[in-house]
Amino acid sequence: MDFIKLNQQVWDKLVETKNCWSIPVSTEEIENAKKGDWKIVVTPSKPVPRDWFSESLVGKKVLCLASGGGQQGPIMAAIGAEVTVFDNSLNQLEQDKFVAKREGLEIETVQGDMRDLSVFEDETFDLIIHPWSNCYIDTVFPVWKEAYRVLKKGGTLISGFANPFEYIFDLNELEKGKFVVRHHIPYSDLTSVSEVELKGFLEKGEGVCFGHTLEDQIQGQIKAGFLIAGFYEDIGGSALDKYINTSIATKAIK
Ligand SMILES: C[S@@+](CC[C@H](N)C(=O)[O-])C[C@H]1O[C@@H](n2cnc3c(N)ncnc32)[C@H](O)[C@@H]1O
Repeated sequence: MDFIKLNQQVWDKLVETKNCWSIPVSTEEIENAKKGDWKIVVTPSKPVPRDWFSESLVGKKVLCLASGGGQQGPIMAAIGAEVTVFDNSLNQLEQDKFVAKREGLEIETVQGDMRDLSVFEDETFDLIIHPWSNCYIDTVFPVWKEAYRVLKKGGTLISGFANPFEYIFDLNELEKGKFVVRHHIPYSDLTSVSEVELKGFLEKGEGVCFGHTLEDQIQGQIKAGFLIAGFYEDIGGSALDKYINTSIATKAIK
């Protein structure tokens, strides 16, 4: 199954149905950002701490990785960064182009799979912003390796991702607020559930998803060469939020 292609179609559709990760920032948010009042998220709700960024981002080269939707990219451009938004979904990238045109901002958009950043030269970017999206790929190490390669020395990678804990549960039951332990981690929609069940997920408009181990997420970054310099947790947006935060954000330095 070409799950990358399928996820592209799913996200193109999610833009049409106005998924919350496809709603672009407003003119007011851009105006405030230009005055120095801005925030971005890489997890569902908590803003990335301001001190995770350098004091000024004017002229800094920023890659918003798997980050289409007209959110992080336009804010970074409004505060003076040179922004490239990379995403698998053309419709998500259209949202960034839409905001750029509306606000007179410069944003480059590139369509591709986050596991392969070969369109970019080594040591191109000062900062990579990588919101919660690696649940849509089967293996995360290529992303950490590629991010390390395209960052300048001393550059920063800010990532959001899922704690895989959510994936031990039967996901249909979890949506009803019931906690039925069923799956082993790492979880894969391609092997952990039946084809019929996966078809059901896709019919509901969900992508093909994967629950990676924390070792792949955190030690994977360290193995790629990064030093982890910041960490926080946030809600995951499921019934588990009442009991545990299932989103994680890390700041990693090359
Ligand atoms: C939850 S959204 C994150 C973007 C959003 N701007 C945000 O604020 O969090 C997940 C994004 O990952 C993208 N994506 C999924 N699979 C991808 C892949 N293999 N390569 C690049 N982007 C991918 C989707 O198209 C979607 O835009």
